Amino acid sequence: MQILMKMALTRTTAAWILALVILQVSGRAVGVKITNLLVPAMALEGDEIRLRCDYEVEGGSSFYSFKWYKDEREFYRHMPSSMQSPEDRCVEDNPVAGVNVDCWVSTEREVVLKDITQRTSGEYKCEVIGEHPKFRKDIKKSRLTVYSEPLQRPLVTGMQDTYTTLEFVNLNCSSMNTEYYPDFSWDINGSPADPSFVQFHDRRTSGLTFQARRDLFQRGVIRVTCQVSLGKHHSDRADVELTNRDYLSAQEYHFNAGERRMPAAGHIVSSLLLPSIYALLFSLV
Ligand SMILES: *[C@@H]1O[C@H](CO)[C@@H](O)[C@H](O)[C@H]1NC(C)=O
Repeated sequence: MQILMKMALTRTTAAWILALVILQVSGRAVGVKITNLLVPAMALEGDEIRLRCDYEVEGGSSFYSFKWYKDEREFYRHMPSSMQSPEDRCVEDNPVAGVNVDCWVSTEREVVLKDITQRTSGEYKCEVIGEHPKFRKDIKKSRLTVYSEPLQRPLVTGMQDTYTTLEFVNLNCSSMNTEYYPDFSWDINGSPADPSFVQFHDRRTSGLTFQARRDLFQRGVIRVTCQVSLGKHHSDRADVELTNRDYLSAQEYHFNAGERRMPAAGHIVSSLLLPSIYALLFSLV
């Protein structure tokens, strides 16, 4: 009888332990996780910017609260259980300087800030808290810097008057901005330049080096573009045209041919031959 009692007791203990384990596991299943935080690193005064925070609520249940902070001060709050109107989600009783939320278009994933100024710069934090009973929390932070100087058109230097076929082109593109460093990108004839052609000399200057192959010349010119950009919304560009010397001479020949000027004929022969000789030499090297 006593043995039986003992066995029953151990069984109940085992059941309790099992129940506790299940609780632990399901407790973990109501966790939350921020999967993606998108805060632009740089923006210009007057911009409208989007701060995005994607999260997963494990087990598909609801969450308790979703909040945004700037430098640890809360400015946006969404609590599904409290049936707020979109306007109530903007925390207005204690406004945060430089933070002007467009309450009507902001959602529990994306917050829109209007008319930003340099005071909008700071560290932005997204916080998601899971449901009762665990209230598990996840946070992610990212820094935004707002500049006042408009993006300037870049300057391309190093261009020659003309290029022969297979000659190397060396160009530099420099940012004219003093407050910040924009991103650079190069296009050749409207297509992105091969990354192996691009060098970064310093944060203000990007270089482009490539060989002026015959097929790159279109009607005797290669069109090169340097673009600077800041975030998704600001960009400016400088375009240059690299002229083929032989193409120019050929044009000259056609023009002069009407007058039967013989020296030009010699010129065109050399202009047709030379590139082939270069090509031959190049293939041997
Ligand atoms: C490009 O800039 C770099 C660094 O400032 C310099 O060393 C190089 O000579 C420049 N190249 C041209 C083609 O101007």
